[in-house]
Amino acid sequence: MNRIILGIESSCDETAAAIYTTERGVLANSISSQIKSHSMYGGVVPEIASAQHLPVVQAIVQQALATAGITIQDVDAIAVTNKPGLPGSLLVGMSFAKGIAYGADKPIIGINHLEGHIFSACLEHKVEFPTLCITASGGHTAMYLVEGYGDYRLISQTRDDAAGEAFDKIAKLLNIPYPGGPIIEQLAATTAFTDYFAYPRGKKDMIDFSFSGLKTAVLYDLIDRGWYNKEEKRFTALQPTAKAQVASSLLCAISDIICAKATLALKSHANVRSICFVGGVACNTFIAKQLTTVATQHGLSLYVPSKQYCTDNAAMIAFVGHYKLQQGLIDSLALDIL
Ligand code: KG4
Ligand code: ZN
Repeated sequence: MNRIILGIESSCDETAAAIYTTERGVLANSISSQIKSHSMYGGVVPEIASAQHLPVVQAIVQQALATAGITIQDVDAIAVTNKPGLPGSLLVGMSFAKGIAYGADKPIIGINHLEGHIFSACLEHKVEFPTLCITASGGHTAMYLVEGYGDYRLISQTRDDAAGEAFDKIAKLLNIPYPGGPIIEQLAATTAFTDYFAYPRGKKDMIDFSFSGLKTAVLYDLIDRGWYNKEEKRFTALQPTAKAQVASSLLCAISDIICAKATLALKSHANVRSICFVGGVACNTFIAKQLTTVATQHGLSLYVPSKQYCTDNAAMIAFVGHYKLQQGLIDSLALDIL
């Protein structure tokens, strides 16, 4: 039976709504990004994020319904991100979802944002299970063993910063605005992804991620080279190529760390039949290419969502809502955040 799901996502700095259907997949994927409002602060400011969801959430949901050519009456369930995320931001999407669920008498389904990312590669690919899912975003970095829809187990996580957070924090040292990841990749491309400074890769036999040491290593390396003013917190190198050299070395280090953890995971989970690389950092084509090599060495396919589904979006929320509805996992209007 064809099922139509409206997904709503507002856990961080993107207000998003999408329509997913059994027969035709994603019919609409609307998004309003706040990146410009946060870039001057070097990261997401929670108070600004929640305040900016409020005036746009209704228009974004309307836009998704209109693009799909349906009305709220056609929807079978409303899937809304209820955890994890910034509480004030989650509340906006959740309250709006509850309002329309109540008004239109539709079931509501609370979705874990991370579960959305985990299954985001399934929006466009027929993923073979069990799959090793590497999620790397600004807020989270982890690996999951995924046996099927809704059936996943955490096998590794970060002990400190997320991979995207490492890109963003080190980018800040280089006077690069938030989000730093895409600009680091562009700069690295100008050097053909050369590893100039061989930053440390951390403990090779540890399956958990750790990126805070890398940030410290880069900071002290910059100070040693006379490229960073600690008092003014400013990148001061005069050579025009310096920033690109740091960016490229950083990208090589983070890519190597992710590939090493994936290789460790594959060693202890020999039944894995594919690999997924998801989350905002999966927009990085250099890391995806390196991971493809790892996958090929193990005789596996690597699945990476297109960029619109790597970064925060509501299509992945609607997708999870779709299989939860089929599994009979709906919530009541008492659904809470976090
Ligand atoms: O998934 P996402 O949109 O939001 C979170 O849930 O965090 O991920 C955003 C993160 C940011 O840290 C950003 O710097 C990083 O993804 N990112 C990238 C690239 N594009 C986005 N990191 C490295 N290379 C990229 N091309
Ligand atoms: Zn996310």
